[in-house]
Amino acid sequence: MSQAVAGREAETAGPAMPRHVAIIMDGNGRWAASRHLPRIAGHREGARAVRRTIEAAIRHGVEWLTIYAFSSENWRRPAGEVLDLTGLLRQYLRTEVAELAKNGVRLRFIGDRTRFDPDIQNDLAQAEAGTAQNTRLNLIVALSYGSRSEILGAARAMAEAMREGRLDPEAVTETCFGRFLSTDGIPDPDLIIRTSGEQRLSNFLLWQAAYAELAFLDVLWPDFGDTHFAAAMAEYARRERRFGARPG
Ligand code: FPP
Repeated sequence: MSQAVAGREAETAGPAMPRHVAIIMDGNGRWAASRHLPRIAGHREGARAVRRTIEAAIRHGVEWLTIYAFSSENWRRPAGEVLDLTGLLRQYLRTEVAELAKNGVRLRFIGDRTRFDPDIQNDLAQAEAGTAQNTRLNLIVALSYGSRSEILGAARAMAEAMREGRLDPEAVTETCFGRFLSTDGIPDPDLIIRTSGEQRLSNFLLWQAAYAELAFLDVLWPDFGDTHFAAAMAEYARRERRFGARPG
C-alpha cells in the first residue's frame, strides 16, 4: 500500500474524501499589514503555507491539488509587487522543485505562461518534464490564470476545429468541450477552499467548479496549516453531494 493511501485511511476514511482540492490562497497582504510588514513578507510566508499544504494534502491522500498562485488580474498590481511576486515564483521554482520531485509530486501549470520572463517559462517547462513520471500527488499551479479567458480560448479553438472540419458541432458535449480547456485530463475539483473570509471565486475554475463544494475559511493564507486543511476535509465529509439529483 502506498503511503498516500495509508494516510487516507488513517485520517479520513471512506468515499467522503475529495479527490481534488483547489485553493484560492487569499490574505497575504492583510497578514503583512497587521504586522506592519511589507506585502512581500506576506507572500513569502504564503509560500511557506504552500509547502505545509502540499504535505497535508499528501498525508490526507488527496490525489489532485490546485493552487491559485497568480491570477491574470494580478498583473494590474503595482509594478513593485508584480516584480516581488514573480521573483518569489522564480525562487520557488529554483529551490522547491527538486524536493517536490523527490517526494513524488507531479507539477503542472495552467494559465498564460507566455507573460512571464523566458527564464521562468523555461523553469516551468523543466519542472513539468522533470516530474512527469510522479504519481503521489498532482500539483497544479494556476499562474497568470483567468477562467473566462481559458473558456474563451477553448471556444475559439473549438470553432477553429469546426472550421477546419476536424470537429462536428453535433459532437460537442461537455466532455468534448473540457478537452479544449487547460485542465484537460484533470478531474473537476470536489472541494474549493478560499481563505481570508472573502466569499467569491474570482475567475477561478468557473467551468470546472460546477458541482464543487465551497469552503470559505476565516484564516489568512500565511496562517493556513494542517489543522485548517483537516477542518476543511471534515466539513467536506459532512456535505451531501447530490449533483442536482434528489437526496438518496
Ligand atoms: C492573495 O493575497 C495572494 C496572492 C495574490 C499571491 C499568492 C502567492 C502565494 C501564496 C505565494 C507564492 C506561491 C508560490 C507557489 C510561489 P493578497 O495579496 O490578495 O492578500 P490581501 O487580499 O490580504 O491583500
